[in-house]
Amino acid sequence: MAKKTRIGLGMAALGRPDYINLRTHKNIDKSIKAFRSNAFQVLDKAYALGIRDFDVAPSYGLGEEFLLDWHKTKHFKDVAFSTKFGYTYMADWEIGFKGKHEVKEHSLSKLNEQWDISRAFLPHLNIYQIHSATLESGVLTNNAVLRRLYQLKNEYGLKIGLSSSGTAQESIIKTAQEITFEGEDLFDSFQVTYNIFEQSTHNILKALIHNHKTVIIKEALANGRLLHQSSLKTYIPAYDYLQQLEKKYNVGYDAIAIRFIIDHLKPTVVLSGASNIEQLEQNYKALNFKLNDLEVRKLETFMVSKEFYWQERSNLEWN
Ligand SMILES: NC(=O)c1ccc[n+]([C@@H]2O[C@H](COP(=O)([O-])OP(=O)(O)OC[C@H]3O[C@@H](n4cnc5c(N)ncnc54)[C@H](OP(=O)(O)O)[C@@H]3O)[C@@H](O)[C@H]2O)c1
Repeated sequence: MAKKTRIGLGMAALGRPDYINLRTHKNIDKSIKAFRSNAFQVLDKAYALGIRDFDVAPSYGLGEEFLLDWHKTKHFKDVAFSTKFGYTYMADWEIGFKGKHEVKEHSLSKLNEQWDISRAFLPHLNIYQIHSATLESGVLTNNAVLRRLYQLKNEYGLKIGLSSSGTAQESIIKTAQEITFEGEDLFDSFQVTYNIFEQSTHNILKALIHNHKTVIIKEALANGRLLHQSSLKTYIPAYDYLQQLEKKYNVGYDAIAIRFIIDHLKPTVVLSGASNIEQLEQNYKALNFKLNDLEVRKLETFMVSKEFYWQERSNLEWN
């Protein structure tokens, strides 16, 4: 029988003051102290709700530090962490930083440097990922990096994964699937953007799930675009229908959008990217109801082309 989809918590919005989400709650205290306190509260709430999967990355500002510090105060035995290598956080907590917030480097030296810090999550680290693998970065043909990941996989019993973004997600997954060492797949986990608007990876993700790979869905709410109504005509029918379902199930759009992913794709984990406790509680309501087949099929029709989706995503600002 297929395993039930779990909701996990992603730390991208919790560990740094500026992020590309729409940040509707603008007047928040952006001090490190306030962010640390908020992150701890959200982590406590997540655990209390039943969340056991936590995703982070070195480029999520102080996300790794917050998660580790929280873990050290709790010592929960049943938590599972995933982190990544390949992006460095550059803004150094400068609010409104004008430079590049994250710099990508998929080299062996960056892997070793970031692994040295992330290994602190052992023995609860179960997935180690290439952050935003692309065909252009050459990481999927860099034998030194791939071999080192294979070594980490064997030495620490990790699942090696990758995260993907952009129009080439399917090709990236296909390329990664071909990589083997000693007859064994290197990659066991795929963190992919998938939501009502961006469903271009549906078939390949279904096949991965069928082959017992871990599929983690990120950006389930299209970075908030599914919630904060855009004036774009393309989205109006989707917003209208979401509103109907919202009333029927007595939950917010966010829970409907997450539930769509659970009912349509049945992935291993859908990440909540909640910025605070209230959002997390609302997101988590996705586990309390089920959409019927007709509703899933109707929501499926609101997908846009991947080119349109990713162009709009690249126009989002850090704020
Ligand atoms: N590997 C990668 O390349 C990559 C990229 C992106 C994400 N991720 C992972 O996936 C996780 C989730 O991604 P994401 O944060 O981009 O995805 P998301 O779920 O599409 O967006 C989350 C944002 O939606 C808004 N939101 C959520 N619930 C809400 C509610 N009930 N009411 C109003 N607004 C609500 C919040 O934005 P506001 O703060 O604007 O309110 C929140 O930060 C991340 O934390 C990270 O772990 C990985």
